[in-house]
Amino acid sequence: MESLKKQIEYAAKKARTVAVITGAGMSKESGIPTFRGPEGLWKNFRAEELATPEAFRKDPKLVWEWYEWRRQIVLKAEPHEGHKSLAEMEDYFDDFLLITQNVDGLHPRAGSRQLIEIHGSIHRTRCNTCSHKMDLPPVALEIPVKCERCGELSRPDVVWFGESYDEELLGRSLEFLSRADMVWIIGSSGMVSVPVYLAAHASKNGAFLVDLNPEEAEFSRYCDINFRGTAGADLPRIWSGIKEALS
Ligand code: OAD
Repeated sequence: MESLKKQIEYAAKKARTVAVITGAGMSKESGIPTFRGPEGLWKNFRAEELATPEAFRKDPKLVWEWYEWRRQIVLKAEPHEGHKSLAEMEDYFDDFLLITQNVDGLHPRAGSRQLIEIHGSIHRTRCNTCSHKMDLPPVALEIPVKCERCGELSRPDVVWFGESYDEELLGRSLEFLSRADMVWIIGSSGMVSVPVYLAAHASKNGAFLVDLNPEEAEFSRYCDINFRGTAGADLPRIWSGIKEALS
């Protein structure tokens, strides 16, 4: 572990352009369940059965119930020290970008600003009919949620399985990753193909890749360092070593 930390510190000292990609494991120590594995289950449904346009067409109330259950957990959660470490990183490199798959909003709450929420936000809705977007208040909602403008059904403003990513956000992510010197991938299983694609893209363009996850992930094989640890406990320790090395 110590020698891995030293290697990361050495790579970070040389890096100018740094990107971080985070997945559900990033928020686990804030008490937010990940998507896969036994704890990802909700009333015996898997995420893949609920986070789809088909599921919403078939039963909007059920999908809203799941999102509202998750939103209430998120509203009670607090960003942990790992989220705060990533917010601090912005100030230490010439160019920095955090790309998160998480819709929970814990990164902006921890202070991250150079941020792309590539899967959208659980705190926002989008009308199915007029596309009007609404920010949700931090209180329990009457579901399914209706659009404040036209009164039709609204959906969570997130990317579902089988849907396209926002082209502008994906384009900005790829552009950044093609010139990044160092890329961290934290708490993502890589079962959704985009992080694997982004990591492969960065690796092809010569970035030094660090995978921080208690388990092996889909893109671990592209990474220069596989750090088996957690976002809440280990990331702050690694980051404090880097800060020392940079000062
Ligand atoms: P997953 O739930 O698939 O994977 C979570 C990952 O976090 C696993 O690799 C765990 O080993 C790791 N992990 C667990 N605890 C951790 C900790 N304390 N610190 C760091 N890592 C930890 O989540 P994602 O790969 O992010 O997409 O995939 C989630 C995506 O699938 C969501 O954004 C959503 C979903 O269905 C869409 O809706 C399109």
